[in-house]
Amino acid sequence: MNPAREDKREPNRVVIFDTTLRDGEQSPGASMNLDEKIRIAQTLEEMGVDVIEAGFPIASPGDFEAVNQIAKTVVNSTVCGLARATKGDIDRAAEALRPAARRRIHTFISTSPLHMKYKLQMEPDAVHDKVIESVSYARRFTDDVEWSCEDGTRSEHDFLCRCVESAIKAGATTINIPDTVGYTVPEEYAALIRMLFARVPNIDKAIVSTHCHNDLGLAVANSLAAVVAGARQIECTVNGLGERAGNAAMEEVVMALRTRHDRMPFVTGVRSEHIMKASRLVSAITGFVVQPNKAIVGANAFAHESGIHQDGMLKHAGTYEIMTPESVGLVRSKIVLGKHSGRHAFREKLSELGYSLGDNALADAFTRFKVLADAKKEVFDEDIVALVDDEIARAGERIGLVSLEILCGTKHQPPKAELELNIDGAAKSCKASGDGPVDAAFKAIRQLFPHDARLLLYQVHAVTAGTDAQAEVTVRLEENGRSVNGQGADTDTMVASVKAYLNALNKLLVKREKSAPAAMSA
Ligand code: KIV
Ligand code: ZN
Repeated sequence: MNPAREDKREPNRVVIFDTTLRDGEQSPGASMNLDEKIRIAQTLEEMGVDVIEAGFPIASPGDFEAVNQIAKTVVNSTVCGLARATKGDIDRAAEALRPAARRRIHTFISTSPLHMKYKLQMEPDAVHDKVIESVSYARRFTDDVEWSCEDGTRSEHDFLCRCVESAIKAGATTINIPDTVGYTVPEEYAALIRMLFARVPNIDKAIVSTHCHNDLGLAVANSLAAVVAGARQIECTVNGLGERAGNAAMEEVVMALRTRHDRMPFVTGVRSEHIMKASRLVSAITGFVVQPNKAIVGANAFAHESGIHQDGMLKHAGTYEIMTPESVGLVRSKIVLGKHSGRHAFREKLSELGYSLGDNALADAFTRFKVLADAKKEVFDEDIVALVDDEIARAGERIGLVSLEILCGTKHQPPKAELELNIDGAAKSCKASGDGPVDAAFKAIRQLFPHDARLLLYQVHAVTAGTDAQAEVTVRLEENGRSVNGQGADTDTMVASVKAYLNALNKLLVKREKSAPAAMSA
């Protein structure tokens, strides 16, 4: 019996397979550190995701460790590791997944003429042999094995059917048909899935899965069309993160199935009220800002601006709202915080927003909240989220900000920064000037802690409206081919900028530490 099916006997149950930590992390610039990956995995588990693809263990020691740690941490979701069709890859995936309560090995090989000829340089018969070898070998480690035909949508049907049938015979319990290059269209993809159901004699022994890339903006539509045609697993990512134009967005497939249950009578196990939290977390960690008009999780997705719409909404929300903001976790808050709010109300608010902090972290966050409430007229939920995320990001940093003073404007040219940092417990200060205030502040950091990392991205985002809004800054640094994202939030954009730079630098130090314990100083 297919273990995935055993758990989800309901014939209309769609398995949600999240690959934010694997395919999502393959987006250029979206790299995440171990702690961040664990936080995302825990969030996915809490929201009821069935399968979490935690990484590609053979790809790097960091990927191995992430899969291994997530396998130790997550209990309710199946943890999956990716492997090419080789023993080395499968061994590494099996080893990383060993501690998992539920584990899946996902092995893949290309089946399209183009990929077989140019990428693999293998004959179809040899590819077919590899399918059988790799799936049978993976089954030695777990009875939950997924097989994917990379570039499946551009594969010849006879060959695809032959490989799928053999993969199932060899023990694959899930058969994934990737649209690797985002080329297919809904009607064609649905026909491909129906063709497999019609022609592969043992197809009922496996769950058929979709894995759609978004190069033509059709990833979600293609995934849904495949489900209507019989697929019962959707591979997707939070915010649609992923290679090139990304993967099918999890929040969109989940809410489409929920909202249009009348046309697509399928259910998922995802608790949709966790969607906003997951979206914000992935966006904050990767520095990939969600576009305001993005379906489901964009800042404007539930905003009604025009007078006619507002009037309609006041008369009946259904006039312009096809799903409620609450259903995706946009809480119309019961608790409004201000500068007179106490620790108890603050703790309640955190739990309403899905955070549970230890006593020390709570005390630090509360102190910062009081400072923020003094500086801002109104403290919104978004402010609290930014503040707490900032607090979490800073935990255990070797280099911390002590003070910053900036002189700039028309009368102070060139702009100057006076900066004091705490570096491994010692206070160090300096002055620097630059082309602008940000340049001056970043030059001061380099002076106090010399390093060769290149600045790849500097991005400022206002957490809420108004000139007293907190700024949320993302900085991406790159050193020896390794890139990291740092975040900082503050009502002072310059302070937020320095915090974000330091956060990225601290992450680089952790990476350096892991790759060469001797090379610790700058
Ligand atoms: O897009 C793709 O083909 C993949 C496979 C490894 C499943 O990501
Ligand atoms: Zn992919």
